[in-house]
Formats: sequence, structure tokens, C-alpha cells
Amino acid sequence: MKKIGIIGAMAQEVERLKGEMEVRRTMAKASMEFWEGTLNGTDAVVVQSGIGKVNAAICAQILCDIFEVTHIINTGVAGSLKNEINIGDIVVSTDALHHDMDARVVGTRLGEVPQAGCLAFPADGRLAHLAVTCCKEANPMLSVYQGRVVSGDQFISDRQVKDKIIGNFQGFCVEMEGASIAQTAYLNHVPFVIIRAISDKADDSAEMDFPVFEKEAAAHSAALVEHMLPLI
Ligand code: ADE
Repeated sequence: MKKIGIIGAMAQEVERLKGEMEVRRTMAKASMEFWEGTLNGTDAVVVQSGIGKVNAAICAQILCDIFEVTHIINTGVAGSLKNEINIGDIVVSTDALHHDMDARVVGTRLGEVPQAGCLAFPADGRLAHLAVTCCKEANPMLSVYQGRVVSGDQFISDRQVKDKIIGNFQGFCVEMEGASIAQTAYLNHVPFVIIRAISDKADDSAEMDFPVFEKEAAAHSAALVEHMLPLI
């Protein structure tokens, strides 16, 4: 029996999903509120993790241990790392890595978690394919891209920092949770995908753009998640 864990970092990223859910119970754990029930006819647990990689990892582990979810989807917004990916567009993860992990002193590559066995945590191919297909159906006006999501405990709003991340990791978008959810899912052998709508360009315009476009972008991503649930 499938049960989908859905994580958004901020209230705007989960409010639509909570509103549309038939809630069976809520549970508070690690200062997070887990909403369990059915969403678009599918068993699901929706949770706001809070911002940042530690919150997201704790949240994903609780979904695995206590709710025994069969799949994890991370929904939310991100900064674009490619000129052609614009505000409002959707990025679906192929894989995810930590752009702020640097343990090269012990012989790993930049971005690689020691002993992880891979540089980037691969998203589930079926979930990613489904997300892209559903996006084209549900939002034919939106452009959807499939590529690497890079995460760090840092809001990127500086062209030079952005360029360095692009040069190092060839990411499509940058955010603050995806890689830790990916790592947690990977360690627990739970298939995952990250779906992010672009709220800003992760450069010097980001601090202005983010508050303007974040709400609408978050709603697009959540709408896509809702649409794909029964097809998982
Ligand atoms: N989430 C949305 N935009 C972001 C950015 N520019 N940096 C990090 N996380 C983000």
C-alpha cells in the first residue's frame, strides 16, 4: 500500500495541500506538525519541515520511521541556476547534492558526503518522469526542466556565489533542503523526487524577486504534486 510523504519547508509551500487534504490525524514531532490523511484520493502525510537541511533531514527520517511512507516528494521554490530557466518555471530533480559539503581533506570530491558512495543522490526515475508528464498536462503554459538540484544552508543572492556553484556542480536550481531529503531517502531506500518552482534567479535580484514570486511559485509546485499523487 503506497503512502506518500510530502515535505515543504515553508507554510506557503504546504498550505494548499493541507487545505485540500482529508485529514485523519495530526501528530507533532520534533516541533513539526505531520498531517496524515488522503490527498486527491491517495494516502499521504504532509508536513512543513522548516527551512534548512537539518530540519529537512529530521523531517524525512520521521516520515520513514514513524509514518513508514513508501515515497517522498519535496515541493517548494528555488533559485534558478540557468539563464533559460525563468521565474515560474518548474525543475524536477534528476539528482541532488550538497553544494556546501567540502570534505576533500579526507579524499572525497567537493560536494560528496564521505562514505555515501555517490556524489549526488539519484531521484527515482519513475517519480521524476511522472512529475514531468503531469506538469505538461496540468500546466501546459509552464516550462518544465529535469536536472540537478543543489542545496546548502545559504540563500543565494550574489552573482559570484551563484557562478561558483554553477561551475562546481552544474545544478539547474538551488535551494536549502532537497539534498538532505534526498540523502535521507537514499539511506532509507525510499524513492524520492524534488519538485521546485523558480522564485528568483539566485543573483543580486533574488532578494527583491523572492518575496514577490515565492507564493505563486510555491502554489504551482504544490498543484503539480497534487495532480501526480493518484498516478504514483
Ligand atoms: N529558495 C528560493 N530561492 C533560493 C535561493 N536563491 N537560494 C537558496 N534557496 C532558495
